[in-house]
Amino acid sequence: MRELRYVGDPVLRTPAEPVTEFDRELRRLVDEMFAIMYQADGVGLAGPQIGVGLRLFVYDISKRKGHVINPELTIDDPEEVVEEEGCLSVPGKETGTPLYAPTPRAAGVTVRGVDKLGRPVTVKARGMLARCFQHEFDHLEGKLYVDRLSKDERRKILLQTP
Ligand code: NI
Repeated sequence: MRELRYVGDPVLRTPAEPVTEFDRELRRLVDEMFAIMYQADGVGLAGPQIGVGLRLFVYDISKRKGHVINPELTIDDPEEVVEEEGCLSVPGKETGTPLYAPTPRAAGVTVRGVDKLGRPVTVKARGMLARCFQHEFDHLEGKLYVDRLSKDERRKILLQTP
């Protein structure tokens, strides 16, 4: 199995490339991403977080579970909502578990992409699922949730990482 990558690893800062091959390897990758996410007690995982620079993520949050390949994100409701947010790639050096900080996100989004068989996927989301989609989409752009925090908040979090 591939391993989780942590803040400081350049792959997390590199925009991911579109998926072009919808083959057995891709289907295995999606399965592996779910396995790694569950093993780490996560609710979402994007390709770059396991060193795969491809545009896909998996999620299982608020009783909604799925995967999206080559996602596009549309903001439906731009109202800013601030809630605690963390990331498997931003762990505390003491605890090894994600560090959380209140992070602003849009209240409602739609994700459009395809699944591992190339079939269209559209998911409208609010609340934690909308937050998760924005977080995972950021990973595909080489961004982390700490980028959404104030300079002081960001420094506070990053000082606690390994
Ligand atoms: Ni993350």
